[in-house]
Amino acid sequence: MKTAITELFGIQHPIIQGGMHYVGFAELAAAVSNAGGLGIITGLTQKTPELLAKEIAKCHDMTDKPFGVNLTFLPSFSAPPYPEYIAAIREGGIKIVETAGRSPEQYMPALKDAGIKVIHKCTSVRHSLKAQSIGCDAVSVDGFECGGHPGEDDVPNMILLPRAADELKIPFVASGGMADARSLVAALAMGAAGMNMGTRFIATKEAPVHDNVKKALVAASELDTRLIMRALRNTERVLNNRKVEKLMEIEREKGKALKIDDIIEEVAGVYPKVMIEGDMDAGAWSCGMMVGLIKDVPTCKELIDRIMADAERIIRKRLTGFLEGRAA
Ligand SMILES: Cc1cc2nc3c(=O)[nH]c(=O)nc-3n(C[C@H](O)[C@H](O)[C@H](O)COP(=O)(O)O)c2cc1C
Repeated sequence: MKTAITELFGIQHPIIQGGMHYVGFAELAAAVSNAGGLGIITGLTQKTPELLAKEIAKCHDMTDKPFGVNLTFLPSFSAPPYPEYIAAIREGGIKIVETAGRSPEQYMPALKDAGIKVIHKCTSVRHSLKAQSIGCDAVSVDGFECGGHPGEDDVPNMILLPRAADELKIPFVASGGMADARSLVAALAMGAAGMNMGTRFIATKEAPVHDNVKKALVAASELDTRLIMRALRNTERVLNNRKVEKLMEIEREKGKALKIDDIIEEVAGVYPKVMIEGDMDAGAWSCGMMVGLIKDVPTCKELIDRIMADAERIIRKRLTGFLEGRAA
């Protein structure tokens, strides 16, 4: 399948693995890229730019296909040394960067000068238009269903994607709630040129996370995510667990007066405990509603091949069948 996204990034299939804290290591990025998608290393999971350089080198050893790096721009009080991270990306020969969080405007010259293509993750049409105006090559339009930070507008992809298609000139991928061939075909129908998946890629053989995480994803339903930190305007969709229940109780008590310090025990330092140690109740960690659609733990190649084969069948048989008057 050829779309504006496969052409832009030089990949075989229009499927991207979004950056994920403590999940997006070289093993997963290389597996997705080797399967014809676009794998992405999560930059800030590497504690220093030197460690990121090593992770990039490791990924180059594992694949000769294109892969990218995610750079998440955090609120300025906790800003990591972004110029040094960007230097590691440039020197590592990376040609695709997924940005997220705050606007990447300040860093665009450093990225574009090195011939890097930038795809910015946005949860609204207005942020997507801003990304387009500052020279981003593409956007990842992240609907309310998504794992991680859906923003504060709460617009699901059924509305957000066609709105983006109406307004944007640059290509975009659908992100949030994307699970299988049905998601891909629907996203393409709504104007996207591909899809970005987060949660789905955690439940793959190559994702270098504890087995407990994969088991929890297979066991969970679409009713098992919760939105936290709304009062802080830093809403995050997470998988429910005992600590999340406790956090939500604190949120109910404090109401609008909630401070990050009130819930710091439930949100700080959680990822290594969950992803590496497999402590599923360590605290709040991102998970999308599409978790209800995860029923197995395939390899990345099995997952991507299945999506592409099923997508072809849906388009050629089901959709064309409607046009030709065959019941499908
Ligand atoms: C465990 C987890 C960690 C994530 N960490 C990051 C991150 O560090 N930076 C980022 O830009 N997005 C992060 N995301 C968001 C994903 O890149 C992606 O946009 C999102 O998962 C898409 O929604 P989906 O989970 O429904 O596929 C994370 C998502 C998950 C599930």
